Amino acid sequence: MVLSGKKILVGITGGIAAYKTCELIRLLIKAGAEVKAVMTPSAKEFVTETTIRTLTRNQVYIEQFPVRNWQPEHISLADSSDLFIIAPASANTIGKIANGICDNLLTSLVTAFKKPVILAPAMNCNMWESHFVQKNVAALKKAGFCIVPPESGELACGYEGTGRMASVDKIFNFVEEALHLEPNLKGKKIIITAGGTKEPIDPVRFIGNRSSGKMGIALADAAFESGAEVSLITTVDINKAYKVTKVDTALEMLEATKKGFVESDILIMVAAVADYRPKTVAEQKIKKENSDSLTLELVKNPDILMEISKIKKPEQTVVGFCAESENLFDNALKKLKEKNLDYIVANDISDPEIGFNSDYNAVTLIDKNKEAVDFVPMPKKNIAKLILKGIVDD
Ligand code: C5P
Repeated sequence: MVLSGKKILVGITGGIAAYKTCELIRLLIKAGAEVKAVMTPSAKEFVTETTIRTLTRNQVYIEQFPVRNWQPEHISLADSSDLFIIAPASANTIGKIANGICDNLLTSLVTAFKKPVILAPAMNCNMWESHFVQKNVAALKKAGFCIVPPESGELACGYEGTGRMASVDKIFNFVEEALHLEPNLKGKKIIITAGGTKEPIDPVRFIGNRSSGKMGIALADAAFESGAEVSLITTVDINKAYKVTKVDTALEMLEATKKGFVESDILIMVAAVADYRPKTVAEQKIKKENSDSLTLELVKNPDILMEISKIKKPEQTVVGFCAESENLFDNALKKLKEKNLDYIVANDISDPEIGFNSDYNAVTLIDKNKEAVDFVPMPKKNIAKLILKGIVDD
């Protein structure tokens, strides 16, 4: 059973979609999870405590200040659960969580909760589109909460639009992914590259790109947390508990990567490496007074992954990334072959919600046999763990 031994807290808020949560609880229990439910006072208008108690086979938690235990329930429940899923998540509860308000057991609990939290919003389409709800959802996403996007269609209030709670199957997939994140990387040596290279033009200017380095750093953090010996080669200025080598240019990155690769088990090239660099770097700052136009001659940078493929041993694993705005799968497969990779992680950059500079991402992990796994939009740190797990558990 896929959720055996997992302790899941289900939060129910006051919305008509609460009737679907009964089915979600049934699915979770069938998959082996132990489920405890927390209801807001208004959730009781939509489903009864008896229904939820019978389905979860546990008492239902509603009161904020019961007299049962010495320890406050919002702390003991938070400590003893692996995951918190709030479905449906009303606009009201979303607003309170995003603003740190703890005025009932559910909102207090989620504020004290340190493990993954999944929210499945459900509301009228005009409420969903409201500036305030969208602002609160964006703040929650940024803070690492997983949002299962609501679907569009006919709504219980009689409207047509986006706001219907996602199907229970979809929510169940999010639960499964969030709970099976931990890859085992003990004893593995991993090099990860991150950030966009900077190719100097003169002492003050460079050619750069929009890569923030967040995905590569999330991978390095996740690999380190999972027990790997990590070496991060990056253009971003950061201090970490693992080894960080700061580089600027593609040539510096190539040298550092080749050097570290010899002793590594896995290389993950997330960096956005400039394809070209200025042929010459001016020794002094180029002055605009000297000319009305400026022509820079660029020369091609080496492809780091191509260079690595020349020294790669069969037992080493090499992973590339590719950002595409069209024909994601075909372009990714082409790169996988050309660069002799074991895996490629493909990123659809046409979606502004994910990718560059965002804390969220949605990717497809493709292996040499063209087997592809899609990861739904989730915080980059969760995507990082799933990618690592996909690579080592294959
Ligand atoms: O060919 P393209 O730049 O789209 O491929 C992206 C992948 O190749 C990424 O993994 C990136 O880090 C790597 N790359 C490289 N050397 C370059 C350019 C990209 O290793 N010069």
